[in-house]
Amino acid sequence: MTRDSLTITDNRTGKTYEIPITDDTIRALDLRQIKLNQNDFGMMSYDPAFNNTALCKSKISFIDGDNGVLRYRGYPIEELAERSTYLETAYLILFGELPTRKQLEEWIYHVTHHTFIHESIKKFLDGFHYDAHPMGMLISTIAALSTFYPDARHIFDADSRRKQTYRLIGKMPTLAAFAYRHSLGMPFAYPDNELSYPGNFLNMLFKTTELKYRPNPTLEHALDILFILHADHEQNCSAAAMRNVGSSHVDPYSACAAATAALYGPLHGGANEEVLRMLMDIGSIANVPSYIKRVKSGEKRLMGFGHRIYKNYDPRARIIKRIADEVFDVMGRNPLLDMALEIERIALQDEYFVSRKLYPNVDFYTGLIYQSMGFPVTMFPVLFAIPRTSGWIAQWEEMLLDPEQKIARPRQIYMGHDKRPYVPMDQRS
Ligand code: CMC
Repeated sequence: MTRDSLTITDNRTGKTYEIPITDDTIRALDLRQIKLNQNDFGMMSYDPAFNNTALCKSKISFIDGDNGVLRYRGYPIEELAERSTYLETAYLILFGELPTRKQLEEWIYHVTHHTFIHESIKKFLDGFHYDAHPMGMLISTIAALSTFYPDARHIFDADSRRKQTYRLIGKMPTLAAFAYRHSLGMPFAYPDNELSYPGNFLNMLFKTTELKYRPNPTLEHALDILFILHADHEQNCSAAAMRNVGSSHVDPYSACAAATAALYGPLHGGANEEVLRMLMDIGSIANVPSYIKRVKSGEKRLMGFGHRIYKNYDPRARIIKRIADEVFDVMGRNPLLDMALEIERIALQDEYFVSRKLYPNVDFYTGLIYQSMGFPVTMFPVLFAIPRTSGWIAQWEEMLLDPEQKIARPRQIYMGHDKRPYVPMDQRS
């Protein structure tokens, strides 16, 4: 007869323990009963970088990394990219179901009416150097929002959480666009509430002297799909940061600033920027083989390749390749595209990449699209942060409402010195 449990024999003591299995998982705390003697602390599991530790139970995103599957609340990413809009998808991610027409209208109304930012935030932005990285500006101004909305500290009040959600989703594009305009020394362009979410973002970025900015529909649509593809991705580094920081019960702006900081890193959302820098560094198709050789020798990393969870083609990268063609039809073909295609061609048949299951990830082709749309490379991670905000808030709220969650506080295995007396200065070598 099969039992949903694990039998562990501790060969140090000869004792046997039965540990329950639920959802193919054992609880790490159940290991604590395994002790050498009564005074022993008990056994822990050691999992640097959380390679095999479930942080939570979640209903938001599902990834099957071996088969290249991504779903939000059960809906395949391909269908959402084809048929939804970013704001509708954000609603789905945040509230669990696709909205009715009325719910969607109300949601769009509220988000749209929270796009303006306090004029004082412009003063912070003015304090940054002209060449400040926009992610640095974004992280700082998101954190600053908490000082404008002290009511956000009422995290267990559902109405307050809803209000901060409107504000965060509404204001992220404004903060991002203002950071961009500051770096160019251009006057800020205010939100236009008649435009769509991505259309208004393009307006705030690129509007110059025209009375009414009219976004190019192909670029507006492409940006909307890119936003859908980036909206959530279960327990990635920044979502884990959002949960971790939020678990101290800080306000959502502070937690979101922490998540944005996590996203900034080149191994996470900053990879799209690094891909472009890498392609410019390689310089020409003729140099691709020697670059791959350097990657294989461990000297370099192939940015935009590999993923902790996907051991197959990232389904987002497949959709992005298609959007790239639509954008290039309008803006002209990005000359770096041929190099990217050659890298992919070589890598997908090279033993090094094949044996490690390294495939292009979401960041491999997005940079080429963003560059063709007129964005500088430093804006690429910002374009990731805007849509990921819906995922972060959903993950944060799920964490707050989960009775099993508490303040995140990992354990360590102490490897330092044992107790020793203080050494006076003249006796130190
Ligand atoms: N180029 C060359 N080798 C790689 C790469 C790469 N991009 N990624 C992984 N490897 C190798 C790695 O050296 C290791 O080889 P070995 O077994 O010989 O030591 C093996 O593959 C396993 O790699 P790992 O570092 O243990 O894998 P990980 O799960 O810790 O890292 C990753 C995942 C995404 C950080 C990593 O693949 C990487 O650094 N990729 C480049 C950065 C990048 O594109 N990041 C964007 C990820 S997708 C967007 C997002 O959601 O953040």
